[in-house]
Amino acid sequence: MKMLTMFRIAAAFLLICSTSWAESPVEKGEKLFNEYGCTGCHIHGKSWSAPDLTRIAAYYTKERLIDYIVNTKKHYNDPIVKTMAEKYNRYMGDLNVERKDAEAIYEYLKSLAIKGKKRKIFKQ
Ligand code: HEC
Repeated sequence: MKMLTMFRIAAAFLLICSTSWAESPVEKGEKLFNEYGCTGCHIHGKSWSAPDLTRIAAYYTKERLIDYIVNTKKHYNDPIVKTMAEKYNRYMGDLNVERKDAEAIYEYLKSLAIKGKKRKIFKQ
């Protein structure tokens, strides 16, 4: 078999594999959660420098949670956010998260809330 033909077959094979292994919204959200650096402050199951987010999706509506991630500063006057900022000694800054990315992050956080039913409850 010619080299070029083999290359074409290999390329077609890779293309088929990459489309059938397309990421689910949850996987995409997990990746974005790392890429945006959320993990730098939020550690699952622990509440050291920022609240534990494993149960957060059970406490807020989808829209409230997405809006908080996209327009973080808009929520600084929310009494819960104020209480948390006092506890952790800082407010979370605006991270310029795009709305479609925040939607994927929401799907990821929601999957944690379901899986993490027995985990430590999010404290305010
Ligand atoms: C520099 C540290 C830091 C980073 C990075 C960070 N956070 Fe936070 N986050 C905090 C702190 C501190 C709080 C609690 C005070 C507040 O809400 O401002 C918080 C609170 C939250 C809350 C709870 C808000 C509420 O109203 O209960 C959510 C949800 C959240 N963060 C999501 C994220 C996501 C998603 C990312 C990544 C895009 C992220 N955070 C990145 C520090 C951080």
